[in-house]
Amino acid sequence: MRDEELLGLAHRARAHAYAPYSGFEVGAALLAKSGKVYLGGNIENASYGATNCAERTAFFKAVSEGERGFDAIAIVGGRGGETAYCPPCGICRQVMREFCDPEEFYILLEGEQKEIKRFLLRELLPEGFGPENL
Ligand code: THU
Repeated sequence: MRDEELLGLAHRARAHAYAPYSGFEVGAALLAKSGKVYLGGNIENASYGATNCAERTAFFKAVSEGERGFDAIAIVGGRGGETAYCPPCGICRQVMREFCDPEEFYILLEGEQKEIKRFLLRELLPEGFGPENL
């Protein structure tokens, strides 16, 4: 799947984000090795700490459906319909590390000028702790 297409799906996922407290709505589209794409939005909570990021929503949907291998994730976010640069938080990077090869898994983001930024998980989580370290 083309990067532009996966980012387009992340924009679509963002439409279902639930972010009444921060107003910062995030969408993620996760491409599994099966070829299926799983969409996720952030889901906030009146008890703020119970919030789930868009990326983890997508991962948990996929893993709970039996997926275990992934190729890429596209992430977009911002306030009030605008898009801002939205790199994944540390907790989400760690969840990616559990199921993805840091040398092969791609994270696609939209830059300030709407340009596509493409990172390997290794670049965003260098020397991460993963299943093989246990
Ligand atoms: N958020 C995400 O969903 N993904 C990220 O990568 C960064 C932050 C959400 C969490 C919270 O609902 C809102 O954005 C503001 O932090």
